[in-house]
This record gives sequence, C-alpha cells and structure tokens, in this order.
Amino acid sequence: MSDLHSNAEALRGVMSRVRRKKFDHIICLGDFVGYGAEPNQVLDTMRMLHGTKHYIRGNHDRVAAGQEAIGFNPAAAEAAIWTRSRLSAPNRRFLERLEVGPVRHDGVMLCHGSPHDEDEYVFTEFHAAQIFAEYDAPIILYGHTHLPVVFWIDEKRRVNGTLVRGETTFRLNPAQRYLINPGSVGQPRDRNPEASFAIFDSARMTVQFFRVPYDYVKTQNAIVKAGLPRQLADRLAFGT
Ligand SMILES: [Fe+2]
Repeated sequence: MSDLHSNAEALRGVMSRVRRKKFDHIICLGDFVGYGAEPNQVLDTMRMLHGTKHYIRGNHDRVAAGQEAIGFNPAAAEAAIWTRSRLSAPNRRFLERLEVGPVRHDGVMLCHGSPHDEDEYVFTEFHAAQIFAEYDAPIILYGHTHLPVVFWIDEKRRVNGTLVRGETTFRLNPAQRYLINPGSVGQPRDRNPEASFAIFDSARMTVQFFRVPYDYVKTQNAIVKAGLPRQLADRLAFGT
C-alpha cells in the first residue's frame, strides 16, 4: 500500500478487506501522514501490524518528522506542520527512522516517488523508460502519484503503461520488467474515491488491485474539525 495520508477510515476499510487474506510481507511505500487529520491513529495501526514490514519514507513523512516543506503547496505544507505538532513521541520517532528508498528486497525494489528521488512523480512511459534503463530490478514498487498504474518493458525494450481501473488481477510476464503503483489508500486521485491497494504474489506472478469504499464523510469531518484547509476534505469525495 501507499499514500495513507492520515486517513484512518480508509485504512480501516483496507484492513477489514485483507483480514482473511494470506501474505508474507506488508509493504508501505510512504506518505503515512499529511493532508488528513488522523496521523496518530494511522501510525499506531501501521506500527502494531503483525508480520514482516517494509516501510519506506514518503515526502510528507519527511516534513512531518521535522524537515523543511520545500516544494509543498500551501495546503500540503500547512497540513504537514499541523501533523508535526500533533504527533505522539513514538510516532514522531517512527517517522524519523523510516527507511529512505530505494530499498531492495529479493528482486523487488521499493521507493516512494522514483528510485532516483522520493519527490519525483512517475506519470509517463518516457519517464518509466528512463528508470528501466537505469535500474535492473524485475519489479519496482512505487507510490507518490496516487494513481494505480502498471508500466512494463518487454524483450524488445518497448515500454507500455496502463492506468488500472477498478478491481483487477494483472498477470506479470517473467520475461518483462515492471514499475507498479498500488494507488493511494487515503487520497486517491484517479477520480475514484475508493481506497486503493494491491497484493503482489511473487509465486503466481500476479498483482491483484483492490478498491475499498469507505465513509469518506467521516474523514472529511475530521479534517474540517481540525481546522485544516477545506480543499483537503473536498477532494476526497471526487478522488482528485
Ligand atoms: Fe502522497
């Protein structure tokens, strides 16, 4: 999963959806916090999960942990600084100690934005091609754009990409390499307000994408009540 953005209600929906599923690793590609009003609830939940965890720092986590909000729009910067003031001491420490991508586990590379830079957005096939040329990992998992996407490079070095619509299982070809974004749990931007996440099965070579409806009005009310910028609440209804 990726880009939880302090949205406890969306995370609760994801957790109840995966409760009966089996998996070996829990991967979070960053932006646990920022934008939303429930940073401690989200971090408490993520810290307490049982199992092998691979958690990567996102740009919002970095700023909430105390670094400067360079390149942030005013609403994002305001939310990051608000988050900083509300974090419990253990959650602040957790954010400070998050691993910075890229991190490699077996054949899978994990990063927030791109392997070059946690602030870089990967939107295009052209950009994906540059990453495929520079990194040889068969699978690169990334977040940051809040869009569920799969890019691949085939044997003839052609690069393609697709925005994943709804719930679907993507079959991976072992002869190809992939850049995969599970979408955002807490602030989807593909005009679908439902929380997005994915399960990668390295034995079957599949990626299953999920969408989970949740009560975003509750999340919106928490944002408004906290006095955070209204636009951060409004966008949750539209998935933008
Ligand atoms: Fe994000």
